[in-house]
Amino acid sequence: MRDAPLNPAFLQACRGETPAHTPVWLMRQAGRYMAEYRALRAKHSILEMIKDPEKATTVTLQPVNAFPVDAAIIFADILTLLEPMGLNLEFISGKGPVFHNPIRDPADIRALKAIDAGRELNFTLDAIRLSREKLANRIPLIGFSGAPYTLACYAIEGAGSKDFDNVRAWMFAHPQAWADLMDRLTDAVTDYLLAQIQAGAQAVQLFDSWAGSLSLADYRRFAAPWSRRIFDTLAREAPDVPRIHFSANGGHLLEEISTFPISVLGLDWRVDAAAAVSKYGNPLAYQGNLDPARLLASDEAVREGVASVKAAFSGAQAHIFNLGHGVVKTTPPERVKLLIDQVHARD
Ligand code: CP3
Repeated sequence: MRDAPLNPAFLQACRGETPAHTPVWLMRQAGRYMAEYRALRAKHSILEMIKDPEKATTVTLQPVNAFPVDAAIIFADILTLLEPMGLNLEFISGKGPVFHNPIRDPADIRALKAIDAGRELNFTLDAIRLSREKLANRIPLIGFSGAPYTLACYAIEGAGSKDFDNVRAWMFAHPQAWADLMDRLTDAVTDYLLAQIQAGAQAVQLFDSWAGSLSLADYRRFAAPWSRRIFDTLAREAPDVPRIHFSANGGHLLEEISTFPISVLGLDWRVDAAAAVSKYGNPLAYQGNLDPARLLASDEAVREGVASVKAAFSGAQAHIFNLGHGVVKTTPPERVKLLIDQVHARD
């Protein structure tokens, strides 16, 4: 059993306890808005940085050293999981992620390989071990994975897309093959998250960034059962490690998501937090949900946003302050500092 972190606020809130201060961390807290990140990125591709545990650890710690965040998140990406399954990933500048051999027909799914995260994604597990060492228990470290639906979107589309219309069409056309793909992704995500926990991740977050492109009925049929299965397994195999769910644009799905065996329900910025808390209730802890664009606007917009987000969550048993999606790359770092100080000061 490892010692409790010196700053336990984040893990306490995950358990529904009341910490001494409101914990805060930011999705995409490591990244291009930081000069330290851009300096390293100028010399290495994103995949080189993720696959070298020393560099991934350096990047994980950049925001921790710059700002008094209450949690670190391991520097990795949701898409690396698809590589050992057989999909060839490249990040193309100006275009984003591209898979050179996306899934085109049901036969491609039968060719996908089961992964062994301990071997094939060991770079991230080593980065977790090294980051835990360097963090020296100051704050907890969060591990993460993409949810099966969001991973399936990239695997089929082969790149980003506005609403993944082609993917939804594929799903409706091939429901059987879709279920097979989701089963395989679920096994891979479960293996990966359990391996991250084994390596030292003290909480895990499932990012279902594109779930919001589905109607509630289709989410229930085509996506939710597999996310639920992941949380069921984690709850059984690693009951003490908090489980966080986040979906962007997923306000209309919360009715289903809030019934998953999760510890923390993440809200994107479009969701009325006070209404969500009263509707879905406690003992869930909540995470969110400041509009990331406020950080681009003015100090006053940040101050005002922090106050209203905190007030909106005041009925929750516990609140972890976060943005309602990732930090935008043009964010001035001073505003991130202001945001975190404001969250801590307004308790
Ligand atoms: O939060 C953190 O600080 C941890 C790091 C992290 C990254 N990606 C690093 C990254 C996390 C949690 C992710 C998750 C991720 N990756 C998601 C889910 C979260 C969300 O935003 O909804 C998704 C959909 C991806 C897929 C992905 N990775 C895309 C679409 C891109 C390109 C984006 C762009 O603006 O170019 C990436 C690349 C990526 N992953 C970057 C970072 C810091 C930018 C890479 C760069 O430096 O060029």
